[in-house]
Amino acid sequence: MSRRRQIYEGKAKVLFEGPEPGTIVQYFKDDASAFNDRKKGTIVGKGVLNNRISEFLMTKLGEIGIATHFVRRLNMREQLVRAVEIIPIAIVVRNVAAGSFSQRLGIAEGTVLPRSIVEYHYKNKELGDPLVSEEHITAFGWASTQDLDDMMQMALRINDFLSGLFLGVQIKLVDFKLEFGRLWSNDEMRVVLADELSPDNCRLWDLRTNEKMDKDRFRQDLGGVAEAYQEVARRLGILPESGPADIPDPRLVR
Ligand code: TMP
Repeated sequence: MSRRRQIYEGKAKVLFEGPEPGTIVQYFKDDASAFNDRKKGTIVGKGVLNNRISEFLMTKLGEIGIATHFVRRLNMREQLVRAVEIIPIAIVVRNVAAGSFSQRLGIAEGTVLPRSIVEYHYKNKELGDPLVSEEHITAFGWASTQDLDDMMQMALRINDFLSGLFLGVQIKLVDFKLEFGRLWSNDEMRVVLADELSPDNCRLWDLRTNEKMDKDRFRQDLGGVAEAYQEVARRLGILPESGPADIPDPRLVR
């Protein structure tokens, strides 16, 4: 890891001060956690794959006009991003019932939803990132009505675009989580997509078999976690430059 000043260390990433003001370096770790940190492990090679997958998806979204914090990938595990003021609301978009949605509402996993459903979660680990409504968000000033409007519109466009992109490689986009931030330039502010987009924060199922190709393999002890992430990268045509040799043999370490 580099000698730059560390700003923050999370479960899957470390943030360092970037080379220019207003930039940050995101370092992708192999560490994984689930169930609000009650389950922890290491998925060897995950950081390299997520760096590459997130770069690919953020770049594609940029190409259709979605503003993101992504600037460029620096190396196997690091990417340069713009420093943003993170909005403390995670947006979850769901196309198919799974995870907490199935548990909360008793709707069987795999049920195709009548329309895409967008949820707001208040980013607060102690509280377990609770589901909140627009009323909660605006009453407590976590985001303005305009921020929420921007986030909702971007989230739905991202969902349409990524659903099609994954469908093209025989993958079903079941659900995913987005984070947004406020980017200031002079006195102007715009809301941009931040964080990462990878199998850590998307549910991806093989279109034909419904086999899970995302972090649920880790959450549910299904095995083959790194292989699944590698398969997502392979189908997207973006395995790291020197191929799978960059990634040591997959191994789940508890
Ligand atoms: P959920 O069904 O557990 O609420 O998760 C919905 C989606 O959000 C799923 O793709 C996983 C992702 N997610 C995160 O990326 N981070 C989180 O902390 C949680 C709870 C979910």
